[in-house]
Amino acid sequence: MKVFITRQIPEAGIRLLRDAGIEFTEHTEKRNLAPEELVAACKAHDALLSVGGNKLDADFLQACRHLKVIALMSAGYDNLDVATAKALGIPVGNTPGVLSNATADTAFLLMLAVSRKAFYMHKRIEKGEWGFFDPTANLGIELNGRTLGVFGLGSIGTALARKCRGAFDMEVIYHNRSRNEAAEKELGARYVSFDELLSQSDVLSVHAALTPQTEGIFNATAFGKMKPTAIFVNAARGSMHQENDLLDALRTHRIWGAGLDVTNPEPMDRNNLLLQMPNVAVLPHIGSATEEARGGMARMAAENIIAGLKGAPLPHPIG
Ligand code: DGY
Repeated sequence: MKVFITRQIPEAGIRLLRDAGIEFTEHTEKRNLAPEELVAACKAHDALLSVGGNKLDADFLQACRHLKVIALMSAGYDNLDVATAKALGIPVGNTPGVLSNATADTAFLLMLAVSRKAFYMHKRIEKGEWGFFDPTANLGIELNGRTLGVFGLGSIGTALARKCRGAFDMEVIYHNRSRNEAAEKELGARYVSFDELLSQSDVLSVHAALTPQTEGIFNATAFGKMKPTAIFVNAARGSMHQENDLLDALRTHRIWGAGLDVTNPEPMDRNNLLLQMPNVAVLPHIGSATEEARGGMARMAAENIIAGLKGAPLPHPIG
């Protein structure tokens, strides 16, 4: 039994595969595989451990219907046609939960960095622009006691809300597909409509899954309903916000600032105008990039591969 791994993964996952006697091929080149390369590689293997955004759509799945299991090393599965995989009888799994803290930390870092223009200040020092102390310059805004709005209060959104309650005593409101009663009880989180989330949040942080319903949902209309003092944070998927609309909202002071760990496309062009704005902080999709989270994700993906190749139920199935 052989598994194809689309990128080099942490040793924790490799060790599990080795211990289980599973052969593997790791695509170690630092580049994305073209769709036809992925199909060709999968044809020579029995299972796929997929890292990154390779499109695993209906065409791919039809071509690779022999696969005994597909294990994503990610929480998000917007790149995979789950319905077709299920119809073809291919078990599919992902790695939720283990990256929640790391991703929430990233959102927390972004909101704080934006509120104090930290990335921009760093750039100014590098350019030799640290001048005399001016009490009217470099002013940010404080997060203490403000309202955190979470779009998608699952495990990442809840981890962020917990941090914001503890660190800044923030009030938590949220909008979700369904009510999260546990978070309401633990954090006093209040369910609100999407419009209320937009109009009441001081920091609006996106943690929902990318679906046809959420794609592009943060557009000019949405930004137009936010407070002029609001900070928009996205550590989920870049396609949920319309980048030109965000740029306009920032330029016209419709909103105060933005922190992005995800962009559309990725990587972001180095000349992107957002990178020049004082109240913007951008990171290169590092939400889950900690030793702990990535090690855990690799382990979970390997566990799914091992179970799938044995014909056993996946320990971390999608859906
Ligand atoms: C996820 O797990 O979905 C992260 O965005 C890493 O891809």
